[in-house]
Amino acid sequence: MDVKQAIRQRRAFRSLEPVEISKELVQDLAESAQLAPSCFNNQPWRFIFVYAPDKLETIFSAMSKGNTWVQNASMIIAVFSNKDLDCMIRGREYYLFDTGMATAFVMLRATELGLVAHPIAGYKEDAVKEILGIPEEMKVITLVIVGKHSETIGALLTEKQVESEKTRPERLPLGEFVYMNGFGQQLT
Ligand SMILES: Cc1cc2nc3c(=O)[nH]c(=O)nc-3n(C[C@H](O)[C@H](O)[C@H](O)COP(=O)(O)O)c2cc1C
Repeated sequence: MDVKQAIRQRRAFRSLEPVEISKELVQDLAESAQLAPSCFNNQPWRFIFVYAPDKLETIFSAMSKGNTWVQNASMIIAVFSNKDLDCMIRGREYYLFDTGMATAFVMLRATELGLVAHPIAGYKEDAVKEILGIPEEMKVITLVIVGKHSETIGALLTEKQVESEKTRPERLPLGEFVYMNGFGQQLT
């Protein structure tokens, strides 16, 4: 699979079935994050790969309403960082950007391996930190929900979520976010 195929194939599916998680898989995904670019090579990202069944079960309790589908995850990757781990250049903080890029690399590699890697923001951050022992000063930026895509629509999905299993949520046309040679000059 080439990069373009992985970009196209990646989807935030919510109908998941179990998949075996091995240490080799964790290592493979971690190595993909390791090679991401970062400001001054600061590598501000931190990941906890959670796949022990009892730990997973506890994290499920920290989900927001609307994310009950997460209960079918085989692994949850907690992604966290802190602004002091990366550049701040004239008020521009780079830790979220760099951690996001590393996370995207993990997600694309997971896609290539035939997995769903679905980032979410709907969780109780304090509870996640407590369960995983993440230091107070860290920000839990996302949880990436990993599993195998199930062709059977998950019973825990809302009507809207069922819809986005079938059809990829609509994107802005290029004309709304791409400019040529200066702001306002749209791509035609
Ligand atoms: C930062 C972020 C937060 C998200 N939070 C949630 C969430 O809490 N629950 C959920 O079901 N999906 C969540 N998503 C997934 C998006 O809804 C999904 O990526 C978007 O609808 C586009 O669908 P696609 O990724 O399949 O193309 C999140 C995605 C991102 C990047």
